[in-house]
This record gives sequence, C-alpha cells and structure tokens, in this order.
Amino acid sequence: MMKVTIFGTGYVGLVTGACLAEMGNHVVCVDIDTAKVERLKRGEIPIFEPGLESIVRRNHAGGRLDFTTDAAPAIAHAEVVFIAVGTPPDEDGSADLQYVLAVAGTIGRHLDRYAVVVNKSTVPVGTADRVREAVAVELAARHAAVEFDVVSNPEFLKEGAAVDDCLRPDRIIVGASSTRAVAVLRKLYAPFNRNHDRMVVMDERSAELTKYAANAMLATKISFMNEIANIAERVGADVELVRQGIGSDPRIGYHFIYPGAGYGGSCFPKDVQALERTAHSYGYEARLLGAVEAVNRQQKTKLFELISYHFNGALAGKTIALWGLAFKPNTDDMREASSRQLMEALWSVGAKVRAFDPEAREETHRLYGDRDDLVLCEHASDALHGADVLAVVTEWKAFRSPDFAAIRAALAKPAIFDGRNLYEPATVEEAGLAYYGIGRGRSLQMRR
Ligand code: UDX
Repeated sequence: MMKVTIFGTGYVGLVTGACLAEMGNHVVCVDIDTAKVERLKRGEIPIFEPGLESIVRRNHAGGRLDFTTDAAPAIAHAEVVFIAVGTPPDEDGSADLQYVLAVAGTIGRHLDRYAVVVNKSTVPVGTADRVREAVAVELAARHAAVEFDVVSNPEFLKEGAAVDDCLRPDRIIVGASSTRAVAVLRKLYAPFNRNHDRMVVMDERSAELTKYAANAMLATKISFMNEIANIAERVGADVELVRQGIGSDPRIGYHFIYPGAGYGGSCFPKDVQALERTAHSYGYEARLLGAVEAVNRQQKTKLFELISYHFNGALAGKTIALWGLAFKPNTDDMREASSRQLMEALWSVGAKVRAFDPEAREETHRLYGDRDDLVLCEHASDALHGADVLAVVTEWKAFRSPDFAAIRAALAKPAIFDGRNLYEPATVEEAGLAYYGIGRGRSLQMRR
C-alpha cells in the first residue's frame, strides 16, 4: 500500500486515481472545483467512461479513494504526487502550462518530506525541468530543505477504454534521472507490471517526447489513410480493399488505418499541433506533422462536401439525420468531434439537423443550446423522421447493422453518407439508397 495524491480529476487524474486505489493504495484526489469534488464524493462521475463509476464508488466506499479541495493535507499525505491537470492549447497551439506549474508551486509550498512528483499530463519536452524549478523556488522561499524528485510518466489511455488501459497497460514509461524515484515508481506500478516487465525507464525528455511521438504516429496513420482515400476517389479505386491489401503486411498492420471523417478528441489534434510548435521553437519545421494536420482539417469537411454534391448545393431547408455526435464511440466527449464541423457547416447554409448519439446528446445540448435547426433525438430511428438523408459520423456499434429498408422508407431522398465506412456500398444500394463513403461508393463519381 502506498500513499498517493493526484492533482486534477479530469480523465487522466480520475482514472489513474481509481485504478491505483483498486490496487490497494490510499489515493487522495485534489481538484479546485468544489462542486465537482462534492459530486465525486457522492459517486457521481462527470464523464461517461465504461467501468469508471463502479471502480470509483467501490474504492471510495472502501476508504481507499478520497476527494478534496484542500491541497495542504493531501500533499502531506503523499509519497507520490501526480500532476494530472489540463494543458489546453494556447492561441498558437502550444500547450499552456499555467495549471501544471501552479500545482508544482502548491506542492513546493506544502511538501515537508521526500516525495516523487510525477507529471502525468501531456506536457512539452522540458516541462519536468520547469516543474522541478517551480517546486524548488517555493521550497527555497520557506527555507525548507526537503528532497524531492520529478518524474515524467505519460498516460496512454484511450477514451472509452480508459479503465482497462490503465489497469492493463502495454507499457509504463518512466522518465527519471534519480534511482530513488525509479524505485518508488517500480513499487507503485508492481501490481500493473506482472508476468513481463512493461516498464521502460529513460530520461525525462525522452519520456515527454515518447507521448507526443506515439500520438503523432497514430494521427499520421489516419491522415495517411485519408489521403489514400482521397486518391482512391479520383482514380476510381475502393479504399477499403486497399486498406485490407496493405494491412496484411505485418510491418503496416491493420490498426489505425481506417479512413473516415477525420480524427477528433482531446489528444490527437492538440498533440500534433503542440509537437509542431515545439519543433518550430527549436528551429525545426516539422513538415510531416503540418501535413497530417492539414489533411485532417480537410477531411472534416468531407461529409458536408458529399452532401452538398448530392443536393447540387441546394441545402437550404433540407433536413439531415445525423447518427453519432461524440468524437468516437463509447464516450460523450465532443472535443474536436467531426460532427461539429458538419453540423455547423449545414446550419451555415440553412439546413437542419436531427441528431442521435447514444451518450453525447446532453453534451451537444450544453454546447449548442436550444436552436430551431437542431433536434436531439432519443432513438436512432427518431432522427430519420422528416429527414431527407442520413449521415453517419461516429462508428458506434449500434449503427453497424441497421434496417436499411426502414431507413429508406423514412427518408425523403434516400441516401446514406457513411463517414466511417461502416456499410457495404452494394448492400445499401440494393436496399434502394444512394451510398456515399470515404474513398468508395458514389464518392468516386464526384471527382470525375
Ligand atoms: C488517443 C490515443 O489512442 C491514446 O493512446 C492517447 O493516450 C490519447 O489519444 P483517444 O483520443 O481516446 O486516444 O482516441 P482514439 O481511439 O485514439 O481515436 C482518435 C480519433 O481517431 C477518433 O476520432 C477516431 O474516430 C479516429 N480514428 C481512429 C480514425 O479516423 N481512424 C482510425 O483508424 C482510428
């Protein structure tokens, strides 16, 4: 059992805290948001994440997971202090470190014995040094001779599978220059590190870059495949066949080569941009990253372009049924979601949207409020009523095998715009609907 304190009860902080408590540690989560802390104490989870609510409730009830706004006793409690607060992009796309450094200062003001300070937030290369300095400045200000170490330990959890990723990590990256700190983290992660050693120990800067490199690589795979889809449309090839053709090469692999309406979420868009900015600030132009970003931006306009083509640009007064609002399945997260670009583009030309998402309706309402051109529906089939065509934006499992005959009957101008290539063009066409996909179906005709 170890004593752990975590600053920040967002995605990363809350999941990490709950999983560490699940392994028997005593975890205190600190947040400045009083209302949020009160809700967490009642077992109410502010985000939709499978498995999170039960693990939080169980460990809170078991006395291993506490929530507080009071930093001082939480710091005094800890052998390990995690920093898991947000690093939102500032105007130029760089990660804004003010929250991370504010927590570092708080730690410095209250630390009274050796602890390991762990950066879990995704932070630019060099942040471990800045955190060390911010803690040290506060310690010096009160003449406290307390030892501490700073470690970079980036998180690789995927939304929708975060608890599982956290409990069963495929690697644990520890960036540390002190053997004492590495020993503490080895002990903390021992229950997550059974059967074979998943811990990769390196220096802080390499650990910080590892996180960005992982996300940038994945984003690159997606943009690459979207580019191939765009080429497929022009040359009359089916990108889904091409995908299977290349995925069978183990050096390429089947993962993360699904073309679609662009990637969203809190990580890829932000991290690709931030890495580009970091490179730029060191005098290097990361051209590949710039292209990954540009392809994605264009890909997010794709569904609108196809719908507009279908209606010969006459979209005013049309109603589009939209399945899927969240940036990906199993989450209610709408950050950088492709659905937003599509809805906003449709509204700007006077079209209306009837949308369904299994989880993100409330979040959509919070973002856009009540408006005449948006109806949030309780069921997927409700979204079709009174709509002209259907656009599928998120690959929720529930959308995978719909009743095409029923869709055809409900739509005024039967057509499906499949933003995630979920359906076979022939099956949809046989049911009497026009089919547009990404790099396949009628999308191929558009460029001719
Ligand atoms: C990602 C990383 O996977 C995770 O390791 C990291 O810690 C945080 O960022 P997440 O943002 O939760 O996780 O989402 P992910 O499942 O990776 O999907 C990102 C986006 O890419 C989604 O919008 C998804 O629809 C899209 N995507 C994914 C594709 O368009 N094609 C693919 O082949 C895969």
